[in-house]
Amino acid sequence: MTDAVLWVSITANSRLRLSNLKQISTLKQNHMRHKGNNIKLTVNDCLVSYNDEGPEGAPIIVFIHGFPLNKSMWDKQLNALKDDYRVIAYDIRGHGDSEIGTVDFSIDLFVTDLLSLLDALKIEKTMVCGLSMGGYIALNAIENHPDRFTALILSDTNCTADTPEAKEKRMNTIISIKKNGVEKLAEDLLPNLFAPESFISNTEEVAAVKEMIVTTTIPSLNKSLHALANRKETCSKLSKIKVPVLILVGEEDKITPPEAAIAMQGKIKDSSLQLIPHAGHLSNMENENEFTSQLEKFIAKI
Ligand code: MLT
Repeated sequence: MTDAVLWVSITANSRLRLSNLKQISTLKQNHMRHKGNNIKLTVNDCLVSYNDEGPEGAPIIVFIHGFPLNKSMWDKQLNALKDDYRVIAYDIRGHGDSEIGTVDFSIDLFVTDLLSLLDALKIEKTMVCGLSMGGYIALNAIENHPDRFTALILSDTNCTADTPEAKEKRMNTIISIKKNGVEKLAEDLLPNLFAPESFISNTEEVAAVKEMIVTTTIPSLNKSLHALANRKETCSKLSKIKVPVLILVGEEDKITPPEAAIAMQGKIKDSSLQLIPHAGHLSNMENENEFTSQLEKFIAKI
C-alpha cells in the first residue's frame, strides 16, 4: 500500500483572509486531491493523518473513530465501500498518527478540526459516520453546522452529557493511568468494548484494539478524558436534525446500550435504528458484515 505524505498548512480561519494572496495560492495548491493512506495535513494548527480512498466525484462519507482508538478501526468499512464511495477516515488529534497539538481538547475543538479538514479537502457537504466519541463529534457538528452534512450515521453513541459519577470515573481513570500505565487501561477497557463472544470469535480485532489503546500517548488520553467529561448534551437539539439518520448499536453494547439508541431515535424524525447482533460497543469491528450491510443499504438511498 502506498503512503502518500502531504504537508500543507491551512488554518481554520483561512477563509476569512482570502485577500492574502499567499493564502489564495496555498488554497489553489491544496485543491488537488491526494488519495491513499496516512496522508498528513495540518488543519487548525495540528498535523492530522487521514485515509482517503475511492473514486473522484463519488458520494463522500467521513468516518470518525471512538476513544482511545484510531482511524484503522474503520479499515473494513473503507475496504468494502471504496469502489462506490469516496471514503475518508481520519485520526482525531492525539490519536493514531495525528499530532496532539498544543491546546486542551474539547468536543468543540474536535468539531472545528473536522470542519477545517473538510475545508482543506474542499468538501462542502458529506455524509458522516461516528462511533461513540466519533458520534459525539458528528452530532455536535451536524447540530451546529447542518449545511455541511447530507446524512448521519450514529454508531454505539449517545446524546447525553456525563453524569457526576461518570465524570468522577474519568478523573479516576486519569489517576490510574499515571499510577498503573496503559496496559492496565487496556485491561480495564476491553471487557466493556467487546461482547463476551468476541473474545473467542474476534481475537484479531481484540488484539488490534488493545494495540490502539496502548499506543495512544498518556497526555492524549488525559486530554481526551477531560474533553469527554466536559462535553455538553446534544439530546435537546436532536429534533432539529433534518438529514436522514441511521442509528446502529451492538446488541450487547454496555457503554452506550441499545436503550440510549432507542431514546435518540425517538427524538430524531424519520431516523431508523438497527441492532447489530453478536456485537458490543465496537459493532463495526465485531460484526463487520451486518454493520456494513446496514450502512450500505442506508447510504444507497441518500
Ligand atoms: C468511546 O468509545 O469513544 C468511548 O467509550 C466514549 C466514552 O467513554 O464516552
